[in-house]
Amino acid sequence: MTQSLYDAVGGQPTFARMAAGFYEQVRTDDILGPMYPANDWEGAENRLAWFLAQYWGGPQTFNEQRGAPMLRRRHMPFPVDRAAAERWLELMGRSLDQIDEETIPPVYRHAIWDHMQRVAAMLINTADEGTPPPIAH
Ligand code: HEM
Repeated sequence: MTQSLYDAVGGQPTFARMAAGFYEQVRTDDILGPMYPANDWEGAENRLAWFLAQYWGGPQTFNEQRGAPMLRRRHMPFPVDRAAAERWLELMGRSLDQIDEETIPPVYRHAIWDHMQRVAAMLINTADEGTPPPIAH
């Protein structure tokens, strides 16, 4: 059996670090901070780590605890515009940078990053501030 990316980067602890480094910054972030549940940082951090680990071939903890990911639907309650998506990626990029290259070799980092960029773009559900409304016919 070929090794999963999950195993290649050190399994659960690595995904836990990714989520922890991200959430550490989210708490005080002017755009993202107010969107997240202030009374459940630990839960939110776990959900993100479970999802990423599962996506890359780790245990199915996310599905067991939360059901099918359906991320677009789950993000509908939040106003995800381009600025929020860019900020999400900025904070996560910084979190990834804190993990050394021996743990996440560049080829895997690239794959992880590519997936995050695609998901972030897919989650945009709100027009940017200042975008004119559609013309009524
Ligand atoms: C594009 C900008 C994004 C914004 C503004 C955003 C915002 C949020 C918020 C406010 C939550 C609720 C926190 C919670 O209670 O769990 C959440 C949950 C979550 N987000 Fe995002 N998110 C973004 C991008 C992403 C991306 C790129 C991923 C995956 C690569 C992701 C994966 C998740 C997951 C797995 C959950 C938990 C869902 C659940 O179990 O209910 N998010 N997000």
